[in-house]
Amino acid sequence: MGDLVRFGVSAEEELMVDFDRLSADKGYSNRSEALRDLMRDALVQARLEKFPDTADVLGSLTLVYDHHARELSERMGEIQHERHRLVVSVLHVHISHDDCMEVIALRGGAGAIRELANALLSLKGVKHGKLFLTLPAREIVARKKVAHSHHHHKTSPARRAK
Ligand code: NI
Repeated sequence: MGDLVRFGVSAEEELMVDFDRLSADKGYSNRSEALRDLMRDALVQARLEKFPDTADVLGSLTLVYDHHARELSERMGEIQHERHRLVVSVLHVHISHDDCMEVIALRGGAGAIRELANALLSLKGVKHGKLFLTLPAREIVARKKVAHSHHHHKTSPARRAK
């Protein structure tokens, strides 16, 4: 973990007010932590864009689709079986009478993962979906410092007695 460097940022008041409100809504306790997360995300995104297609990345693909659509489930299964080495795990949720949601955890080459995602997202009957890519944790620059607050939660004696 590198030393902390302080810097000043100039911004329009309205922009700052909106940013502080957004940071608070997202649960950040201060502006610096919110800004650091934005910086990390920008750096990861920039590196992912330049990543060679062969480099290893992690991904999750979320798909919402109409399970009545003809042969859609079969086609989705076939596409994943064809590239089974990329598929780590699949979570399937029956969200309503008509719709299903699938969350597919992926690991492998950036190019192969993008290709698999596009093959699934472009299927007829897929209503909405999005691929999220990130890097293995060791690749993420300026990783978050693990908080060492050392206030351990005490187990309530009343609860423990039960
Ligand atoms: Ni389902």
